[in-house]
Amino acid sequence: MAAFNSEKVLSVHHWNETLFSFTTTRDPGLRFHNGHFVMLGLEVEGKPLLRAYSIASANYEENLEFLSIKVPDGPLTSRLQHLKVGDEVLVSKKPVGTLVVDDLNPGKHLYLFGTGTGLAPFMSIIKDPEVYERFDKIVLMHGVRFVSELAYADFIENELPNNEFFGDMVREKLIYYPTVTREEFQNKGRITHAIESGDFARKTGLPDLNPETDRAMICGSPAMLEDISNMLDTRGFTISPGVGDPGDYVIERAFVEK
Ligand code: A2P
Repeated sequence: MAAFNSEKVLSVHHWNETLFSFTTTRDPGLRFHNGHFVMLGLEVEGKPLLRAYSIASANYEENLEFLSIKVPDGPLTSRLQHLKVGDEVLVSKKPVGTLVVDDLNPGKHLYLFGTGTGLAPFMSIIKDPEVYERFDKIVLMHGVRFVSELAYADFIENELPNNEFFGDMVREKLIYYPTVTREEFQNKGRITHAIESGDFARKTGLPDLNPETDRAMICGSPAMLEDISNMLDTRGFTISPGVGDPGDYVIERAFVEK
């Protein structure tokens, strides 16, 4: 299994009955860009059973962190959800992915559009001081069905702004916009609706999406990727054609059916 490192689980947090996150040790040789994903999994009956997982920790952190759904009959997550501190998981040695700020043209505002576990790569990105150097505002929009799925909300609202090294930039630049579709909440409805109805602009005071000034990263279900890409394309944004080739926005599918 030379393509994988075996890492030890250090902590497990269950957000609700469908969502959990965990941290693991990190091989000192593992290098990645914030926004990257790895293949992660377990050895089952002597064979590696792996799925793609975005790394939710930043590339300067000592440990790795992952966010996962729990699918009762999912080949991997039906097992993974029972992880305990001290268990071992397999992590691929070569992180990859398209959600990297290097593949965005320079701009003023960075929009991070995530639904469900599509939040994970953006956790890494909002912990990256360089992102705050590059953009005037970073807007994190997280769309979920239920309030309990707003993972890391407390960290984003209360801990990150007090980060001892770059909390001042977070306070000045990060706009967190959680939105919930299937129960009451301060922001109700899909991300696309928040943008297109003008609700988001009204609540934040930001101008309408504009390809001259704005850049975006998108991570969600195939339908969500399509709808948000269409919304940007209609406004004249161009997608990055591929890794190493910058554009106004980049996309990655949130890795769901596990
Ligand atoms: P909804 O409840 O209206 O389907 P999922 O778990 O299905 O990936 O959904 C996560 C969140 O993303 C839900 O709030 C869901 O809203 C929303 N969503 C689903 N499809 C889209 C889409 N095409 N565009 C924007 N948001 C979407």
